[in-house]
Formats: sequence, C-alpha cells, structure tokens
Amino acid sequence: MTKPSADIITRHKKLAEKIHYHDELYHGQDAPEISDADYDSLRREFELLESQFPELKTSSSPSAKVGAKPAAGFRTVKHSLPMLSLANGFSQEDIEDFLTRVQKFLSLNAPPACLAELKIDGLSCSLRYEDGVLVQATTRGDGEEGEDITANVKTISDIPHSISNAPKILEVRGEIYMRRDDFLELNKRQDAQKQKIFANPRNAAAGSVRQLDQHVTAARPLKFFGYAVGFCSAALADSQEALRARLKDFGFPQAQPACVVEDIHAIMEYYQDVMAQRAELPFDIDGVVYKVNRFDYQERLGFVARAPRWAIAHKFPAERAITTIENITIQVGRTGALTPVAELAPVNVGGVMVARATLHNEDEIARKDIRIGDVVVVQRAGDVIPQVVEVLKDKRTHHLEVFQFPSFCPVCGSHAVREGDDVVRRCTGGLICAAQAVERLKHFVSRNGFDIEGMGAKIIEEFYQDGLIKTPADIFDLEEADKKSLTPLRAREGWGAQSARNLFESIDARRVIALDRFIYALGIRQIGEATARKLAQVYVSFDQWRDHMCAAADVNSEAFARLTGIEDIGPSVARDIIEFFAEPQNMHLCEALVERIRVEDYVRVVIQNTPLTDKTVVFTGSLEKMSRAEAKAKAEMMGAKVAGSVSKNTDYVIAGADSGSKLKKAQELGVEILDEDAWLALTQ
Ligand code: IVH
Repeated sequence: MTKPSADIITRHKKLAEKIHYHDELYHGQDAPEISDADYDSLRREFELLESQFPELKTSSSPSAKVGAKPAAGFRTVKHSLPMLSLANGFSQEDIEDFLTRVQKFLSLNAPPACLAELKIDGLSCSLRYEDGVLVQATTRGDGEEGEDITANVKTISDIPHSISNAPKILEVRGEIYMRRDDFLELNKRQDAQKQKIFANPRNAAAGSVRQLDQHVTAARPLKFFGYAVGFCSAALADSQEALRARLKDFGFPQAQPACVVEDIHAIMEYYQDVMAQRAELPFDIDGVVYKVNRFDYQERLGFVARAPRWAIAHKFPAERAITTIENITIQVGRTGALTPVAELAPVNVGGVMVARATLHNEDEIARKDIRIGDVVVVQRAGDVIPQVVEVLKDKRTHHLEVFQFPSFCPVCGSHAVREGDDVVRRCTGGLICAAQAVERLKHFVSRNGFDIEGMGAKIIEEFYQDGLIKTPADIFDLEEADKKSLTPLRAREGWGAQSARNLFESIDARRVIALDRFIYALGIRQIGEATARKLAQVYVSFDQWRDHMCAAADVNSEAFARLTGIEDIGPSVARDIIEFFAEPQNMHLCEALVERIRVEDYVRVVIQNTPLTDKTVVFTGSLEKMSRAEAKAKAEMMGAKVAGSVSKNTDYVIAGADSGSKLKKAQELGVEILDEDAWLALTQ
C-alpha cells in the first residue's frame, strides 16, 4: 500500500480541522458559515483521503466521531442527502399522467419500465454504514434533519450492525414497521400493564422508536425493510431492481411482492393484485410505489420540491362511512377564503374518528345540495382532510332548509365576495380581519416558512388575541416589548422564565433566513414552496425580487415578461405576486421585516467554471432529445440564467424545431444561436 505523502498528511489534517470547526458551528451554535453542499464536499474529499490511506484515521477524526456520541435524548442530525417524500396518485389517470410526464421529460418514445413495490406504513429511517459498520441511524424529521436514534435502532434484529463488502460509506434508507400480529400482542401487554394503547401499528412503531430508554425499544417487536440508498461512496447498482438484490445480499429484508412493470397494464395488474392481498399481508401498507427502474433515468429526472420526479405512490382508495351533518360552519383562511365545514356526528372511518369534513366551497354545497341534518357518506384518504362524498337523499325524511352561504365574513363582518370566475368567496377585510391575520401568522412561522420552534398555532392565536403579535414583524420585537411589559411572558399562566427564554432563543435562531423560505413565509396567494424556490432561483436577492415585482406591475415591462417567463408562473400567479407588492401594508411589512432580520441570497447548487457559467440563455422551439424542463434544469445547474425573452443581454438562444419570434429577435440582435446538437455538445 502506498504511504501518504507529506502534502496528503497536511491536507488531511487541515480538512479534519475544518470539518470540526463547521460541525461545531452547525450543531453547537446553529450558525453555519458554509452551505451544506460545501460542507458535503469537504467531507467527501476527507472520506476519499481516508479510504485511500486508512492509516490517516485516528479516533478523533471526524469520520470516527459520527454517531459515537452517546444518544442522550435525541440529537438532531443533518441528513447528508435530504430524505424525500413521494408524490401521490389515487387513480389510473394520475399514474398515466406520471408516466407521460416522465416519458416527456426524458424525451422517450414510451414510458420507461418501473419497479413496483409496497408502500409500507411505518416510519422512515436512514442507516449510515462506514466501512461496513452501522454508525448512525436517523429519523426522517423534516427531510433535511432528523433525530439520532442510533442506540434504539441497534436493538432492531432485522437491521445488521455490520455488513460485508460494503462501500466505504453507505446509507440505507427504509421503513421501520411493526407486524400486525406483533402490534396486537403489544397492545395486550400494554393493556395488562395499564400502559398506553396504540391506535395502529404505525403509531406503535413510531412510539417505540422514539423511546429515550433503548431497553424499552428493545422489548418492542420492530422490523425493517430497506428500499433506497442515500449517500453512497460507490455505485451499488444501475437500477432499482438491482438495488433490491444488493440490499438483500447485505442482509436488509425486502418487502414482497415487488416486480418490474413495463407499462400501465402491468402497473394496474400489480396494483389490483396487491389490493386483493392487502388484508392477508402481515403488515400495513398504504399503497404501492412505482419507481423508474433505471438509475441513469432517475438521475436525469431529479427532484421537484421535496419529492423525486422518478417515483409516485399509488394510494389505495379512501375509506368511507355514513353519518349526519349536525351543522355547517365557515372557516376563514389566510387569503380570506371562506371554507364551509361540515360538523358531523362523530364516525369511525377506517380506524380514525372523524367529526368534521370540508365542503370545499359554496358551489359544491349547491351542487350536492348539502343541508344541515342530511345523512351523508364521508371518506378519508390517507392524510387528506375528510370529505363529504354524497348526500343520501332517501334518508331526508323531513324538510331541511337549503343552506344559505353567507355574503359577509363571519369573523370580521366585511363583505365576502366572489371575483370573476373564482369559485371561492373571500373576505375583503384583509389584515383587519383577525382570521386572516392569524392564519397568515401561523403560515409565517410554519415549518416551511420561518419554522420557529415553540411557536405553534395555539400560541399565535393567544398572542394575537392579547395584542402581543399583530403582524409577522412583531415576532422579532417580542423580546424587547416583553422587557418593557408589565405582564411579561414569564408571568403568564403555564409559562416561566425558562420557557420565555426558550421562545426568544428560537426566534433569534431565525433572524437569518434563506430567500426561498422568506418568500414562502409571506403567504402570497398561490405561492407554495416550489414556486417560492423558483422565484428565489431567478431573482437571487430579496431586493432584486421586490424591485422586479414592483416593476412588473406594468404588464408591458420586461420585468413582467421575465416573471411570466418563469416555468409554472402564469398570469394569475403573477397577478397575485404583483398585487401583494401593490398593497402598501405588505410593502411596510417587508420593510419592517428586513429591518429586523437578514434574508440570505439564494445559493444555487451549480457546477463551477462551465461554458455556461454566468451566461444568459433563452430556449425557443421544441427540443427533440430532451424536454424543455430538463434542458432548463441542466442550464441552471451549469451556472446559466434561463430567461424567457431575448434581449441584448442574452448570450445564447437555443433554437429547437419551429422556433418563432424569439429566433427572429436573436438574429436581429446578433445573439449567438445554437441548434439542439450544438447545445448538446456544449453541455456534455
Ligand atoms: S421511496 C426518494 N419506497 O413513504 C424516495 N418510500 O410518502 C423516498 N415509504 O417518506 C421514498 N414504503 O417513509 C419509498 N417502498 C417505499 C416506501 C416508502 C414506504 C414511505 C417513506 C416516505 C413516504 C413518502
């Protein structure tokens, strides 16, 4: 074996120091100085050095330390690669749409083969093996960071503590679950010992894993199925099917049945088969999953928001029950939407008690002719809010009043109106409406927004009512205001000095926020996580974004063209953003916020020094070998800005077949034009 040179020894030491430093900033002070991507590349270089020269390893080296800490409570751990969730489909049509999307994205002539497997109803877990040894197990958490449950997971007999012939670093992801018979036994034992009874196997599994005392976990009958790989230092397989075989060889149980399905017929056959076997399976499943089989395709497809484009969960049909509508109440949401809610005589739907169901909007009530007192069918599908499917008209034995939808907001009394062809009636009270203000605050602090720990819906409602927080900016003045208050938080019922301090600390921890989260937190109508991220990608800084949105109020402006040129932002979404900034109250809010916090510029994961670095490109016409979406994603990854229209600042116009006015404009302005082959050559 070659000995490491002096340079390598110095580099290894330097990397170790850097990693320690950033670990401390991240875990110890919650104040990282570098991006996750930069941190990962430090670690990767470090791990590579140690795999080439194992003698460099010492017991204090960062690779040895991971997971070595005793699991006192649950430490949070950042996932090396995010733990994603899955998009859901409920019908054959949803799955056909998925296949078409994939086929188009990859520019194939037919949808690619998928691996079909069971969707286990448990809790997901990531297992990290270093040199074949299990060093860390984490829960999914929010997808970015989870809890360190290593000690507990080591008590699960299905999970190998060491594996042979493994790559240097291997993260196996899968589901911890409990078999149904084990769950029933456990509940019997719990009952006999006057302990908590679990509602279902999933809850029992989750409750058992999250025990602080690992001996309690050890006594629980937990099991594991492996179905994916997170970070891995060497390629394990080239397809999902081959991965299953590799995982099986390593000793990770694989759920059955699973098979490669070539087309929608095979997919539906698998789905029906599994549904027919569902009751006989020893464990709970909540659907099946289809994953594009080839990994090279998966890589090209990438991700959207928090789910891969290459997979979809096919959920089983909703469970139904019959009950009576006792009342219809109206909820007012963050954007003023009035949502009718059916208050039901509580009923058990597939194991869960349901007492309320959404009625969506007034047209839906009219269409289904839903009246207070009606006997109705309700359904519940997975995490979806229960719905009223139909009214059993023959059960309407006496006269019931037709429901009159209010034209005033039940919370603030303002007019509630329907604009244009909007099916939703909205309160016109804006932020004078307490309901809208409170919902907006809840959204602001929510997990994908500012994610302020300890500031849940209840506290927001309470603080709003007591006048402590009226707008999001007030959150960041809370501590100062509290110092001057005659009735400080620590003196409130249920509070103390420590809980007040904790809350101020968690607010302080969020005084720096990434632009995409900030945009999302503002709660602009129609701006979800994915759109917020796109806006952040395009405008990079808060100032630029705000200035462009103000300029876009003129629909003939370049700013408007640029905004509507962004994928998924049509005129209606654009109008909502522009209207948001046209409202002086909102401008004041933004000003007040940026005085109190720092909005970080968006950091893209881009490859440096490519032929497209800092270039502005415009796509026009249709490409044959890859879809527009893929071409754009590629351009952005290579450091280019993708614009919607051609100007003198455009560096390249990529012209596919049937290019129209953009091509003409490029010719007029003398912008370099690439055909598809030239584009492919440039981006190889
Ligand atoms: S793959 C990147 N496969 O379902 C894809 N997930 O609703 C990550 N789940 O968080 C997941 N069975 O906890 C995958 N065969 C399976 C699964 C599965 C259950 C869970 C998993 C995930 C959730 C998404």
